[in-house]
Amino acid sequence: MRAGRTLGIETSCDETSVAVLDGDGRVEVNLLSSQVAAHAPFGGVVPELASREHLRALPVLAADALRRAGGPPELVAVTCGPGLIGALLVGVRFASAFAWGRRLPLVAVDHLEGHLASPFLNLEGGPASEMPEPVLALVASGGHSSWYLLQDSRAERCCRTRDDAAGEAFDKVAQSLGLPYPGGPVVDRLARHGDPEAVKLPRPRLKDNPLDFSFSGLKSATIRHIRTAGLKGNGESEPSREVHDLLASFELAVVDHLLQPLEELAARHRPRLLTASGGVAANTLLRRRLERAGSELGVEVLLPPRALTTDNAAMIARAGQLAFLRGERHDPRRLDARASRKWQPPGMCRAS
Ligand code: KG4
Ligand code: ZN
Repeated sequence: MRAGRTLGIETSCDETSVAVLDGDGRVEVNLLSSQVAAHAPFGGVVPELASREHLRALPVLAADALRRAGGPPELVAVTCGPGLIGALLVGVRFASAFAWGRRLPLVAVDHLEGHLASPFLNLEGGPASEMPEPVLALVASGGHSSWYLLQDSRAERCCRTRDDAAGEAFDKVAQSLGLPYPGGPVVDRLARHGDPEAVKLPRPRLKDNPLDFSFSGLKSATIRHIRTAGLKGNGESEPSREVHDLLASFELAVVDHLLQPLEELAARHRPRLLTASGGVAANTLLRRRLERAGSELGVEVLLPPRALTTDNAAMIARAGQLAFLRGERHDPRRLDARASRKWQPPGMCRAS
């Protein structure tokens, strides 16, 4: 069975995105309208503003995506949670009306399920790759940091963060230096010119579950160092050597921490593939270190193209196709958005 051409819609946070994939998961169109500029004056995402921006951008992007697609869609996939409730509702209502109006099947997608599907997509015009189970999959974004075991079309969470997400730590450290939001890409760029051994930062370890993550102590230690050393990242010229060194040391500590559970998880689950997704999976050092870990463990590594690491509708469309092939359908007259992580639609992420 094939899923058919799929329209994907993502509005869970501050990016409006619409994509069309053909029945084999080829990305025909993946459009994105970022709200970064709208939220920048407030120093973070303003939920009400996000909903309004989605309302404005979504119909325009959808019309454009449908015009550029290889043909009419046969399936609609939409993010229904977790995320900002007002923002999610814009996408869910639009997708439901579209599916109902055209008598198309509708599938609700969990945002994390979308991230988990992203490494299997490419932007060179090829079909989506098959998933050789079992897979060990890292999701590291502004809201999540977890390793999952993908097996029997299900995602079982192996470990998680107890406090901040990895992306959040990047954002807060960048913010305390006066660098723009989101901090991850800026830190990535500046860390390339720094010495990662220059500043000794803590490597957290939780006594009750050594596989779990904790980023808040590392974040606070880094911010303390910034304050005591009087570091600034937003001067007229390039930041100082000390800023580059601190950011390289911080980035190394985050990456070490994210990869620390891998040896144990690989021994336990004998994966055939390692993947990473979410905004932090764009990080240069994380990508390099994952490739190295894969070759040391003798396991293949599959990383999404950088453009598909942050929120996008192509990954939602792909996760929707996989859910459709598992038999999932949702009633467009009843589908609701859910803000919470506790609720999961039936599907891969049931265990979270
Ligand atoms: O997946 P995403 O777009 O949104 C969430 O679902 O949270 O991830 C955004 C996060 C931000 O915290 C951003 O700073 C981080 O991903 N990020 C990065 C990089 N690019 C984006 N972190 C580290 N290195 C990067 N190159
Ligand atoms: Zn995300």
